[in-house]
Amino acid sequence: MDRSMKEYTVLLLGSGGRESALAWKLSQSPRLKKLYIAPGNGGTLQYGTNVGMSPLDFEVIKKFVLDNGINMVVVGNEDSLVAGIYDYFAGDASLNGVPVVGPSKEGAQLEGSKDFAKEFMARHGIPTAEHLSVDASTIEDGFRFFENHKPPYVLKADGLAAGKGVLIIPELDEAKEQLRAMLGGMFGASSSKVVLEQFLSGIECSVFVLTDGSAYKILPVAKDYKRIGEGDTGPNTGGMGAVSPVSFADAGFMQKVEERIIKPTIDGLKQENITYRGFIFFGLINVGGEPYVIEYNVRMGDPETEVVMLRTGGDLLDLLEGVVTGTLAGRNLEIDPRYATTVMIVSSGYPGSYAKGKVITGTDAVDGSILFHAGTRRTDDGELLTSGGRVIAVSSYGSSKDEALAKSYANISKIEFEGKNFRRDIGFDLK
Ligand code: AMP
Ligand code: GLY
Repeated sequence: MDRSMKEYTVLLLGSGGRESALAWKLSQSPRLKKLYIAPGNGGTLQYGTNVGMSPLDFEVIKKFVLDNGINMVVVGNEDSLVAGIYDYFAGDASLNGVPVVGPSKEGAQLEGSKDFAKEFMARHGIPTAEHLSVDASTIEDGFRFFENHKPPYVLKADGLAAGKGVLIIPELDEAKEQLRAMLGGMFGASSSKVVLEQFLSGIECSVFVLTDGSAYKILPVAKDYKRIGEGDTGPNTGGMGAVSPVSFADAGFMQKVEERIIKPTIDGLKQENITYRGFIFFGLINVGGEPYVIEYNVRMGDPETEVVMLRTGGDLLDLLEGVVTGTLAGRNLEIDPRYATTVMIVSSGYPGSYAKGKVITGTDAVDGSILFHAGTRRTDDGELLTSGGRVIAVSSYGSSKDEALAKSYANISKIEFEGKNFRRDIGFDLK
């Protein structure tokens, strides 16, 4: 059969708004035979079949893949990648080479260990904040690093900490105290090593690429809004909204990003023989027009995917086939010129504790936006209930940022549940 006609039965791992957006996009492919999402949510049901398995239970996943003729696995969530799902599949002959879209376990260390990422950037001359990694035996070096830098002080747990492992502390004594606490187990084993960084001041954006390990394609750039409160105040969340494109990430800025950051990253992985066939997320900061890497992630962003998929034209499955077969260079990435915005409706109390199981009404009245469910579930009687802190990402196109946002907000007003909350100022700091 002509390769370009091959059909795919895809298993997508994950359960958030990101996976809803990936499922929406995959479901548009003429080459998609069937889509399964594990575990999925109350919205992914529109695009495929939810399967109640954990994305971390590789043996159960393997059995499902073999029993259901899956011929591509797309991994939405980082923890499966950091736990080595790529290597698990590649190393098991009975899986007959079923490809996994994502990095090898070693490649996933770009997100799984901040120390690994910083050392990688240092080896390849990639611009990032100055740093020092310390453990309990070198805590005094950490204190000296703080003393030689200006406040605020940046402390990062080395390992995965569910987005909570970064502290930014204004006072020297408090920073030393927090370093002691982190090394003492504040984030469990994740903070037995801590990366200290110079504080960079600027505006952030998220750049995503797809790579087959040698070629790469740059997806639409996005900006997310992490704080719970308007004007970027209050605690960090998983993300309260996103927009794409990003006004300051113009052609000149993106050229610097490509030359100084994307190319050396892809070349560095290749030079070091690190297998990487998947998405790379560059968390960047613009310091006076110069891009620096704040962090790497080895999967797509959430809620950035909810706008990036809206603006990714063409067939995502064709691009993913290029990724897993090492033929990405010959594939075509189309970019939709429209603006896309997403506004996350969340449960009151989030990112702290919040109630679940609240009845959601009004989604049928939505017009002109796409709802990417994040924390929802459908009961057997078809009722839609909240099941997480982030509930639904209300996503829209527009000929301007404001037009797209106006649609998202008009539709948010139709959706109700007890404790509904959202930010009214997504995109406020961009032109
Ligand atoms: P992360 O969880 O790694 O995305 O970090 C959370 C947030 O901390 C980032 O989005 C930045 O806003 C901030 N941050 C991390 N590192 C630095 C740094 N070196 N300078 C300034 N802000 C930082
Ligand atoms: N929105 C940031 C992230 O997905 O990590």
